[in-house]
Order: sequence, then structure tokens, then C-alpha cells
Amino acid sequence: MNNRLETIVDLKKYPIQDLNSPLIKELIKKCKSDLDQFSCATIPNFILPKSLKIMNTELEKQLDEVYMSKQSINAYLYSKDDPSLPKDHPKRIFMDRYNGYLNSDVFAKDSEMKFLYEQDELLKFVSACLGISPIYRWADPLACHAYNVMKPGGVLPWHFDSCEFTLSFMIQKPEKGGIFEYCPNIREPGNENLEEVKKVLDGDREVKKVLDGDRKRVRQLELEPGDLQIFKGRFTLHRVTKIEGNHSRYLCIPAYVLDPWRVNTPEHSKAIYGKVLPIHIERNKPRSDGLAD
Ligand SMILES: [Fe+2]
Repeated sequence: MNNRLETIVDLKKYPIQDLNSPLIKELIKKCKSDLDQFSCATIPNFILPKSLKIMNTELEKQLDEVYMSKQSINAYLYSKDDPSLPKDHPKRIFMDRYNGYLNSDVFAKDSEMKFLYEQDELLKFVSACLGISPIYRWADPLACHAYNVMKPGGVLPWHFDSCEFTLSFMIQKPEKGGIFEYCPNIREPGNENLEEVKKVLDGDREVKKVLDGDRKRVRQLELEPGDLQIFKGRFTLHRVTKIEGNHSRYLCIPAYVLDPWRVNTPEHSKAIYGKVLPIHIERNKPRSDGLAD
């Protein structure tokens, strides 16, 4: 039995260390069905309240090290326009983004979240929920288990992730706003489905003026502190609405990937995590799934 793990995860309710227990088998079945259908599954109160407090404190201790970025960005996380594309191409639709990360490389050695991410029990449980094996921890030293900070006024516009699978642990909710919205399975390897992506992006701009007729594909999720969300972020267009009120929204977003070698592109790393390391340059090769990255 993993002694520290039982102080972090509610193993009585969710015995992830024993994938053969009837409780976990049932949970895996439900998560797999939700992930297949909606590309997203949630497990309430996964993290114990005491551990949640430790996570909150470890993040707040390092808030001055959070890299905040404010920019105009497209759904593929680029801020540079490509005038060679048609004017209405989704890559030429830019949206406001104001968001921050405490990068994984500055976490304390004994960090609660870092410890949790490094446990095989968690990896094997997530792999079973996805019905995909093997999956790997992300080799990106900045992004692999970063804390996400959205301050009042913060907003995360529609985008796809670079990593295939993301966990979200809600640490602190804002007073209002900060709602996660997503369009399940909108793209897949070899198929960008640009027309549907464009409809969502256009629908969002239209909504300010007229109706939200193009929000048919959009689903909303409200997470409570302690909840775990498992999510297929590379294939699912998603966003977080503007943070209202005086409190920041804190989340931790550990990630898993299909390729244990790959990391973020140098452009993404610079824009989102504020720096580029030699590994981002050495491993900057085209993706095999044919999707924009
Ligand atoms: Fe994302």
C-alpha cells in the first residue's frame, strides 16, 4: 500500500491502487463510456480535503513565479497570422487570452501534486478509464503537471491541447465565471474538421450580437474543488469563460501522451510557459497524427 497516496486520493471511495476491485471496475466503466461519448469524464471529490489545502498552499507560496501571458491567439495556439490562408480560415481567427502557469520545473521536490503525478497507480487508472494503453507521462519539463492560474479577468479562448490527455484537478473556484466549455471529438487524427471548428468559433463571436445557434456542439462542465476531470484535449475544442469576481481560479493539469519522446513546440513553450529549453528545440519534429500543433 502506498502510504502517501492514501493521504491524497480518497482511496476508500476510489481504490485506484486495485484495478480489480468492483468499485473501481464500475467507475472505469462509467468513465470509459463518458470519455467515448463526450471525450470527458469527471470524478467528484477525488482529492481529500486535507491534500487539497496542501496543493492550494504550495501553489500560493509560488504565485510570484507564475508566468502570466496576455495575447491574441488562434485555436491552434499561434499568435502569428498566416496571410497565405483564406481570410475566414479558423487559423486566422484570433481571440483574447489571459492565463498563467506555474511551470512543472519549479515545483518543490516534495510537492503534493508532483508526487501524485508520478504515481503509477494514477497513470494505470487513467489508462484504464481511457481504454488506451500504453499512455505515458509527458516528457515536457515545463508543462507535464503545471498549475494553471486564472486571475480575475482571465480568459482561455477556444483551443486544442498539444498533449492527447489532460487531467484537471480543481483547486480553487472563482466567485463567478471560469466555466469549462467543450465540443467533444470535433477533430481526430488525419481530420481537422475545419468547417465544424469554424462554426463553433463563429458561433461564439455571433453570440454577443444575436443568438447562440452555433453552440449546438458546446457542452459545459462545472468542477468543484477536489474533483478530477479526465479529458481528451487534443481532439476536443475547449475553452474557459472569463473569471469574474475577486478570486483566482486554480487548477492543476497533469497530462498524459501517446508518445513518450515528444514535448511542446518551441513556439508553444515560449508563448504559454514563457521559455524554451534545449529539449523543445531538439525534439521539434512534425507530428505523426497530421493535426495542427
Ligand atoms: Fe487546454
